[in-house]
Order: sequence, then structure tokens, then C-alpha cells
Amino acid sequence: MKERLEQLKQEALQKVDQATEVQSLKDVRVEYLGKKGPITEVLRGMGKLSKEERPVIGQLANEVREQIADAIESKQTKMEEEALEKQLEEESVDVTLPGRPVQVGGPHLLTSIVEEIEDLFIGMGFEIKEGPEVETDYYNFEALNLPKGHPARDMQDSFYITEELLLRTHTSPVQARTMGHKNGKEPVKMICPGKVYRRDTDDATHSHQFTQIEGLLVDKHVRMSDLKGVLNAFAKQMFGEDRDIRLRPSFFPFTEPSVEMDISCKVCGGKGCSVCKGTGWIEILGAGMVHPNVLEMAGYDPEEYSGFAFGMGPERIAMLKYGVDDIRHFYTNDIRFLKQYHKA
Ligand code: DAH
Repeated sequence: MKERLEQLKQEALQKVDQATEVQSLKDVRVEYLGKKGPITEVLRGMGKLSKEERPVIGQLANEVREQIADAIESKQTKMEEEALEKQLEEESVDVTLPGRPVQVGGPHLLTSIVEEIEDLFIGMGFEIKEGPEVETDYYNFEALNLPKGHPARDMQDSFYITEELLLRTHTSPVQARTMGHKNGKEPVKMICPGKVYRRDTDDATHSHQFTQIEGLLVDKHVRMSDLKGVLNAFAKQMFGEDRDIRLRPSFFPFTEPSVEMDISCKVCGGKGCSVCKGTGWIEILGAGMVHPNVLEMAGYDPEEYSGFAFGMGPERIAMLKYGVDDIRHFYTNDIRFLKQYHKA
């Protein structure tokens, strides 16, 4: 009996030793220590033993059982520890690795330029106004002294929605809208930034959609020198104190007289180079004294009131200020282009 127990012990311990999975340990437990296992069988057969043998074999059987149980237990603990160790190793985070940088966005170059121009005019006491992008033929043309059939309508090829509705071709209709709300009496001093649309074929300097900033000042005794003073202050703050401006005669149906404003070329300082096409000057915006017909249609008495207006393209201003060579950069939105203008 003793030998049998000793042999069972050896067998079981060897199996425990060789076990590589928790399941095989469980199998060993069932096989050797289970109710139908050989040790239980030995204990059951004790009745057949002599009185002297009984306690000896009983004690031995219990010892063997405990030894096997202990071996299973410690092997299982070891396995669990190893598994945990492995898992920790696999899931460990290397805290010394550099972190992934967070991508921080910033305002679009055009947004920055428009805000810069707005701030500048707010500083001179102008209000910011807005108007609709879908505009009536009346405000876009008629109220600006461009009656139906006027040849200057062709200057601005338009996207018509119906006979009477179109995508505005300029921000000038906001002049008529703003004046129209004032009962022909109160002064107006506003700028209006916004999107405009034209049936143009896109290239480096033309776009079917771009931005304009309109300006309008109406009051008693407004003169051309006031216009020049405001534009000069704007140009110097926007482009630098060392830049000069000049006004050239031009034509717009809604202003009389009409001018175009140039600034001196920064690249050559006015001597003439490829940027200014040899003239020393770069065209910036259109302006003029509000046409008496426009004042009258908006309810102002042109004998009593006068005003000046101007219109500029922020894309063009950004292009000149930052040397951007293609207007399409503003709407293709290549992040590499835009990023260059994010302020740190
Ligand atoms: N609306 C004109 C355009 O889109 C720009 C312009 C010129 C606006 C002269 C004005 C102005 O207010 O006085 O070409």
C-alpha cells in the first residue's frame, strides 16, 4: 500500500511539474484527488487493513494528498504570476517616448486680413455692416446708377438666379441698403466686408468668388480731401508709413468723380520693377464721391448731403502684403499654405 501511495505521489508531482497550462493542473487535481481518484480509493479500502496498518497508511495517504494539493497550488500561483508579468510587459507604456504633437489651427489668412482692415476702420469711427449675398437686381445695379441696359453692367458678369435675383457682384449694394435705412437725414459711416461672385474663369488673378470690403461715408460737407485722408491713413497703417498713395481718374457709375488708388511699390520704392510693371505704383482699390443719383435714390438730398465710397479686395491686399502669387490659394485651402500665416 505504501509503495502504491508513493508511486501515485511521484506520478502526480511529475504531471504537475510538466503542466504548462492551468487546465492541465485542474486535470491532475481531478485525476488524483477527485472522489473517484486513486487516493480516495486507498482511503476507502482502509477497512480491509489491520488495526496497526490503518493509522500509518491513513496518515501517509493524507500526507500524499496534501503534498499533491500543495504542488498544484504553488504551480498555479507561479503560472498566474508569470501570466501577469507577461501581460504587464506587453501592455507597458514607454513614458520616455515623445508625445504626439497636438495640431493647433488658426485663422485663415483672409479672415486675419479682413479683421485687420475692420479694426483699422473701427479705429477711424466706422461701423461694420452686412448685406445679403443673394441680392436683387435693384440694389446690385439700379440703385447704384446702373439702369437696365447700361453698358457698365457688362463690367461685372453675373450669376443670375431669376430675372430679378442674382449673387451680388460687389458689396456696393450695401451702400444703398444702409442709406435706405436712414430716412435721408442721418450721416452714414460704415464698412461692409463680404463675399461677392462673378462669372469669371479662375486663374492666378481672377476668381468666381472673392471678398470685398465696401466703405461709405455720407454727411454734410464731405469732400474729396476727406476721402484722400481716410485712404491715406488706411494705406499707411496697412502697408507701412513709408508708402505713398496716389489717386488716378477712373470711372464707376455710382461715383462722380471716380478714382483708383495706387500705393507706391515696396519692391523698387517707386523706381519701377516687374512687380509694379515698371510704373512704380500698384493699384489697390476703387473709390469716388457718391454720385448724386445714388444719394437721391436712397433718399438723401444731394444739394445738402455728399459722401465718398470705396471698394477693395482683401485677397488682393493680402497678396500684395504677403507676396501671395495666386488668388486660388485662398480657396483651395492647402494646409501648408495656410499654416505659414498662423500667428504663433
Ligand atoms: N464696386 C466696385 C467693383 O466691384 C468697386 C468700387 C469702386 C466700390 C468704387 C466703390 C467705389 O464703393 O466707390 O469693382
